[in-house]
Amino acid sequence: MQKLKEIIAVFESNLPSITEQQGNPREVYEPISYILKLGGKRIRPAMTIAAFKLYQDQISDDIIKLAQAIEMFHNFTLMHDDIMDNSQLRRGQPTVHLKWDDATAILCGDLLQIEVYEKLTEIGNIEILSLFNKMARELCEGQMNDMMFESKKVVSNEEYLHMIRQKTAVLIGFSLQAGAILGGASNLESMKLYDLGISIGLSFQLMDDYLDSFGEKAKVGKKIGGDILNKKKTFLWNEMWANLDKKEIEALNHVFESSNDDKIIEFVKRKMQSTKADKKTLELAQDYTSNNHYILDRISNTGDKEYLKDIMTLLSKREN
Ligand code: IPE
Ligand code: IPE
Ligand code: MG
Ligand code: MG
Ligand code: MG
Repeated sequence: MQKLKEIIAVFESNLPSITEQQGNPREVYEPISYILKLGGKRIRPAMTIAAFKLYQDQISDDIIKLAQAIEMFHNFTLMHDDIMDNSQLRRGQPTVHLKWDDATAILCGDLLQIEVYEKLTEIGNIEILSLFNKMARELCEGQMNDMMFESKKVVSNEEYLHMIRQKTAVLIGFSLQAGAILGGASNLESMKLYDLGISIGLSFQLMDDYLDSFGEKAKVGKKIGGDILNKKKTFLWNEMWANLDKKEIEALNHVFESSNDDKIIEFVKRKMQSTKADKKTLELAQDYTSNNHYILDRISNTGDKEYLKDIMTLLSKREN
């Protein structure tokens, strides 16, 4: 993991320039600084730098700016996502809308988004800007689908995969593609990196969904079972649902109407296990992970692939 540590250290050493901004009122800057300093895995900025490293030896100012723009955009989506999902815990700490209030979290998200555009403007690459816009639009569409699926009884696996592609994978695809473009990759190569990002993103969200129900709170840093309470139509949920008989579905509906949160979570997790939905989710995530290595092997380049391999290894073992 030495290679990954190296690029994350470069990113972190440049963090103060985005967390210590002087501006008024302080109330709109402090929550931004708070969420960015809470850390997180930093996989998206690491990916964009890793893709750049396939084509360039030396890190440039622009690739740092791109990494910052991507992490800021990610944090903006999280701030708003936590309002939408009614989440109280993020990275082991209170979410912005809980620590402050909804209005603050909405506005801080808006400001972060503006700062993203400031960075992208400084980079001044119109192709990257237009790819960013396309990606951001798709992400919003995905988030809307995610919310709308909460009240749908049945969502097909195809619909689920389309939704996670939009809400999660396109940002990871963009991170790799834009890093490669800045590094000077050909059109074909940068598109291959986008495809790699999509595949990584799908496995990433499948694991995120798995950990939301079966991870450890201390590691995940979010409330375990939050997706279950929101009736998120994850692959995990869908596989469970498809394998319950009529009586079990009645029992499940009854638990949602009459039990407290802990009992609901416990009941649904047991059903996810008895239907093997948990195992099937891990298997599907594993299929995408194998595909990731297959795609990476087919990317021809002169630079160092070890950075990307490190990230993929980390993701295949992740517990948070
Ligand atoms: C959380 O992303 C949002 C999803 C797309 C699942 P991460 O799991 O990368 O969050 P941090 O940045 O590491 O906290
Ligand atoms: C979030 O997905 C995706 C975006 C923020 C665009 P989730 O809602 O699953 O992310 P977590 O679990 O809250 O981190
Ligand atoms: Mg969400
Ligand atoms: Mg969420
Ligand atoms: Mg989640």
